[in-house]
Amino acid sequence: MGNFFGKALVIDSNVKFVDGIKEEQNLLNDYPCLFTKTFKEASQILKLPKHNIRIIFISSAIGPSHGIDELKEIRIDRPLTPVFLISHAPEREPKELMANECGFTKILHSPINYLALVKEIDDLFISKESWVDIVASKEEKNIELDLLADGYVPTSLTDFVLTPKSFFNIFIKLGSNKFIKVLNSGDALNQELLQTYANKGVTHLFISTEEHKKYIRFCEELSKKILNNPNASSMKKMNNVLNLGSNIAQSFIHSGISQEKLDSANTFLNQSVGLIKNMRLKNESLKKFIDSIEMNEHSAAVSFLAGMIANEVGIESIKSVKLVGIAALLHDIGLYDLDPHFKEESLETLNEEQKKNFEQHQKHGGEILRKCGGFDEVIYQSVESHHMRRRGNDPSRRANNINMLAEIIGAADELHNIFIGTKLDDVKLHNFVQINLKNFSPQIERAVTKLLNKKQAA
Ligand SMILES: [Fe+2]
Ligand SMILES: [Fe+2]
Repeated sequence: MGNFFGKALVIDSNVKFVDGIKEEQNLLNDYPCLFTKTFKEASQILKLPKHNIRIIFISSAIGPSHGIDELKEIRIDRPLTPVFLISHAPEREPKELMANECGFTKILHSPINYLALVKEIDDLFISKESWVDIVASKEEKNIELDLLADGYVPTSLTDFVLTPKSFFNIFIKLGSNKFIKVLNSGDALNQELLQTYANKGVTHLFISTEEHKKYIRFCEELSKKILNNPNASSMKKMNNVLNLGSNIAQSFIHSGISQEKLDSANTFLNQSVGLIKNMRLKNESLKKFIDSIEMNEHSAAVSFLAGMIANEVGIESIKSVKLVGIAALLHDIGLYDLDPHFKEESLETLNEEQKKNFEQHQKHGGEILRKCGGFDEVIYQSVESHHMRRRGNDPSRRANNINMLAEIIGAADELHNIFIGTKLDDVKLHNFVQINLKNFSPQIERAVTKLLNKKQAA
């Protein structure tokens, strides 16, 4: 499964090779790629940030200098982007070229298919982070500590039931900037200990931002294992994938967006879209999803729900469902930037400052993402308008020009805010269909109603 967020660019006039890649649809879903026959065309693509080109493969047949002049030109604006030279006939190339004196990341000798290029992508982008080498940190255990809250990320207590020892240094938050360290990395983790915390009302354990990166890798591995286990139920799989998503969402909220985190988000999206497209889950009802969801993290749950709605609306391509998923994962980034502890469920009880933050968060979220760059325009627009509606009586929220992604995210957002954490009852459901869904375009209304009415799979 592709672990990089962005696209590869193949610059090659070898029709047979390029046509072969274009047929490898499954690989292309995981490792999106653009193709050009000429360097001129490639230069245009490289200029547009929306394509987010992370790796370039250039054929030596592209020009008289065998790609060397082109490499120099690429390096002017992109000193760090990996550039691989494809040589389809290495025996006919000049010796100096094959000695790679001019600084290609690597020279690929007669690659036969996309898999050969994908191996290089994996080598570059699969995170080498490992959690097994974390050592006990210097803070003393079981005493009150003054630590900067910004440096610690909450993780669900329930995440820690699966390993015999703690791989991380773990803290409990007592108040703003007040923590107590409860476990060193390497300490035994027993169920009773966790139960004691749970009984005391602890729902989250805290890990330092630095260790949290490794924690995400740990969750990635865990959910990959569970997804590959034929005996695991679809709900167990879903909850694990959501757990990964929620940890990624938390790290976006806590320490901003980075390419590395987007790569992890891409793994989450591959896994969640895989599950959504999976036959077993396809027939399962949205009600069952809402009832069985174990974690409550807003962004990951909205992302998953949005994927389900997109699938029901008839968005077929995995690429497009992933686009919905990433936009949904980031939809409230502006809100959490303004107020990290905001809860959308409590919209009615907001104070003046929270109201102001809420009013600004769509625009602010769009600004954060635009500054970050590398996303599709449709993502910026959907984040900027996820509270706007096509229909309804509220003129301040009415807009005809919002895109379908924004509508899908809006519907998923409302579903999560209204139903998660409470028992589903028929009155609520009826009101949602008759009132809330009437604000969306008929297409979305139909899709969500259908999802809600789906009978559970046998
Ligand atoms: Fe929002
Ligand atoms: Fe939201």
